[in-house]
Amino acid sequence: MLKKKVEEICNRQVEREGYSSNLYLAMASWAEANGFNGVADWLYAQSDEERMHMLKFIKYINERGSMAIMPAFKKPPVEYKNVEELFREVLKHEEFVTASINEIVALTHAEKDFNTHNFVQWFVNEQIEEETNARLILDKLRLVGKNNLYQFDRDIMSLRIPAAGTQTA
Ligand SMILES: [Fe+2]
Ligand SMILES: [Fe+2]
Repeated sequence: MLKKKVEEICNRQVEREGYSSNLYLAMASWAEANGFNGVADWLYAQSDEERMHMLKFIKYINERGSMAIMPAFKKPPVEYKNVEELFREVLKHEEFVTASINEIVALTHAEKDFNTHNFVQWFVNEQIEEETNARLILDKLRLVGKNNLYQFDRDIMSLRIPAAGTQTA
């Protein structure tokens, strides 16, 4: 069984990955409703990935003889000023998730829980890719400028870096 503190921080991550999934769904909905179908596709795919991350934590907690708890999720924001602001929020959110993954690494080290320490390494790598993805998109947005969003929206799916350990593009 997981130590109480480790179980708690893993359940906290269930909530954070689940919220990430909902956040990107809400962003996808905003993008779709505003005519950015490529951006919406990118965000729907991102939302699916985040659900997969949540499931990884749920299954890990349960496999170790503890129990994953489904939390209530807070409501994600509904409105964005523009696509650039949306992606700045994506990057900010991913930096927050990276920090929370790092806290899990630190705790498992302190608690000498090397199984969980090993498990969470996948997420350490994943977060590098998530942040790179978001920065790449922000760089591209700066390049195309405000007037060429049509092309950006058309091409955004080709910018996706596949998530660690998955075949999805
Ligand atoms: Fe995630
Ligand atoms: Fe993420």
